[in-house]
Amino acid sequence: MCGIVGYTGTRPVQNILVEGLSRLEYRGYDSAGVAIEQDGALQVIHRKGKVGSLAHTLGHFDFSGTCGIGHTRWATHGRPSEANAHPHVSCDGRIAVVHNGIIENFAELREELEAAGHAFSSETDTEVIPHLIEEACREGADLFQAVREAAERLIGAYAIAAVSAEEPGVLVAARKDSPLVVGLADDGSYVASDIIAVLDATREVVVLSDGDVAKLSPDAREFYNARGERFQPEVAHVDWDVDVAEKGGYPDFMLKEIHEQPRVIRDTLAGRLVNGALAIDELDLSVEELNLIDRVYVIACGTSYHAGLIAKNLVEGWARIPCECEVASEFRYRNPIITPTTLVVAVSQSGETADTLAAIRDARVKGARVFGITNVVGSPVARESDGVIYTKANKEIAVASTKSFLGQVVSLTLLALLLAQVKGKLKMNQVRLLFRELADTADQVERILLECGPAVDAAAQACKDAASALFVGRGMGAAIACEGALKLKEISYLHAEAYPAGEMKHGPIALIDEGFPVIAVATKSPVYDKVVSNLQEAKARGAMVVAVATEGDEEIGRHADHVVFIPKVRDAFSAVTASVPLQLFARAIALERGCDVDQPRNLAKSVTVE
Ligand code: M6R
Repeated sequence: MCGIVGYTGTRPVQNILVEGLSRLEYRGYDSAGVAIEQDGALQVIHRKGKVGSLAHTLGHFDFSGTCGIGHTRWATHGRPSEANAHPHVSCDGRIAVVHNGIIENFAELREELEAAGHAFSSETDTEVIPHLIEEACREGADLFQAVREAAERLIGAYAIAAVSAEEPGVLVAARKDSPLVVGLADDGSYVASDIIAVLDATREVVVLSDGDVAKLSPDAREFYNARGERFQPEVAHVDWDVDVAEKGGYPDFMLKEIHEQPRVIRDTLAGRLVNGALAIDELDLSVEELNLIDRVYVIACGTSYHAGLIAKNLVEGWARIPCECEVASEFRYRNPIITPTTLVVAVSQSGETADTLAAIRDARVKGARVFGITNVVGSPVARESDGVIYTKANKEIAVASTKSFLGQVVSLTLLALLLAQVKGKLKMNQVRLLFRELADTADQVERILLECGPAVDAAAQACKDAASALFVGRGMGAAIACEGALKLKEISYLHAEAYPAGEMKHGPIALIDEGFPVIAVATKSPVYDKVVSNLQEAKARGAMVVAVATEGDEEIGRHADHVVFIPKVRDAFSAVTASVPLQLFARAIALERGCDVDQPRNLAKSVTVE
C-alpha cells in the first residue's frame, strides 16, 4: 500500500528512484513522484498514473543530484491526482516527505498547522508531516530531530523518508507499523518499503523496527530506537535472487507466479518430515500445549481467508477440533470466545494486512496463542505472533495472489496434520501417507500447467463476454469456488459470486438463464454426485457449465459444456490442484477483456489500512 524508495550517496539518484519505484509498483500505482536535491533546492515532480508516466516526464530532465526520495501511491485520503501524489512538501518547498500508512489524527494536526499559518495543497493525511517537520525546523531542530518530533505527534501507521534542501545529502527514515528497510551499499544508503527495490544495489539490509529512525548521508549511517538511543543494527544478508522481480520470459508476473507453484509446494514441505513424524518447530508450543488446544480460529482477509476455509475442513476433519475461519475485519470487532487453549492462526501473504494485525493483537490480549502463516520474513504478522510458518512462495509481485495461496493451503494442511498427529486422531503411518500424497501434488500441479491450457482457453473464450458468473462447489469445492470467483472478479472485473452448490436453489438459481456461466468444482469427492445434481439443475435452466473435473470421469461431459480435467488427488488436497485451472481461467478472461492482470484497478498488494 504505497511504495517508498530513497537514496543518498555518490550515484545520480534519478534512475535509482525510477527503478526502485518500478519494483514497488505492486504496492500501489495510481500516482508517483520524486524529490531530488539539485543545486541547493528540491526538484519535486509528480505524475498521476503509473511509474511509467513519471519515468517519461523525468526523461526530459536528467538530474545529477545524488540524494532523493520517491513514492508510488495507493490512494487512501484524497483521490488519485497529481496534487495528492507524494512527495509532499513544506510551505517553502525545502522539505519533502514520502509516506506509507495512515495518519489517523491528521485532521486535528492539519487544523492546528493551518491555524499556525501553514498552507496545504493536497487532500492527503501525509501532508501534515512536512509541515510538522518545518515547524520543528523553525524552532531550530535539524532534519533528524524534526522528523523525530513530528513522528511523536503522529497517531497511526507510517513509514517516512524525508529530505531537506537545507541539509544536502541527509535522508531521514522512520517507521511505525509500516515496513521500511535500509540497504547498505559501498556507494551509499538506500531506503525502501521492500527489499526488492534495493536488491540490484546491495544484499545487506537493515529491517527497521517500530519506532526506529535512521539518519543517512553519503558517508554515514546512524540508527536510533524509539527511546532515542543510538544502536548498532543487525544487518541481514538477503540471499534470494533479484530474478523474482523480473518476468523471466513470461508475459506477466501472474503467469510466472502460477508456474512457480510446484516449487512452492516442494519448498514449503521441505524438511517437515523428521524421523517419520511431522515437525513444525517454529510453532513454539510443546506437545502438551498443542494437545490442550480445543478451539482453532483461522483469521485472514481475501485470498488468505479462502485458504482458511480449506483449513477449517482439514482441522475439523482430521484433528476433530472445532475450527472457525473468519474474516479478520469482522473478528476484531466482535467478542469471539477465546481461552488460553484457543489457537488463533493468522494467515497473511504480505504479513502487513492491518485488519489481520489488529485481530492478532486482540486475540493475544484475550489470551489466545497466535500462530502466523506468512510469506514475508520479519513482517509484522511474523513478529507479533507466538510462532510462524513461512510459506516459501518468495516475493509475489502480481497483485492477485496465486502462489502464496497455494503456499498457505499447503502450510495450513501441515498444521492440520500436526494437530491430528498430536491429538492421536491420525496414526503416524497415516500422517506419513498423507504427507507423501501432499508432496505428490507438486508433480500433479506441474502436469496441470503443462496440459490444461487448451481446455482453459476454450472455456475462457466462451465466458469472456458474460456480465456475471457463478462459481459453485461443495465441501472443499465450495471453498475452492470462493477463491476462483475472487480471482476472476479482481483481475477481469467480471462480476462473479461463489456459492455452495447446494445453496443455488435457495436464490442464486434465479440468475441463471441461457448462456449464464456456472463454473463448477466437480472433482471426485464424497459429494461428487450432489454436485452433479446441482449442475443438472443449472443446465436445465440454460446455464453454460464449465467444470473442473477428475481425469477419467466419463460422466461429467454430459453435464458440462467445457471440462478441464485435472489429475486425481485425495479430496483433502483438491484445493492445491483444482485452484490452478481457475487461476489460469481468470487470467485468460482478464487478458481477453484487455485488463492488466498484474495490476488490477483499485487494488494494492498489501492492505495496510483498516
Ligand atoms: O497479504 P494478505 O494475505 O493479508 O492480503 C489479504 C488480501 O488483501 C489479499 O489476499 C487480496 O484479496 C488479494 N488481492 C487476493 O488476490
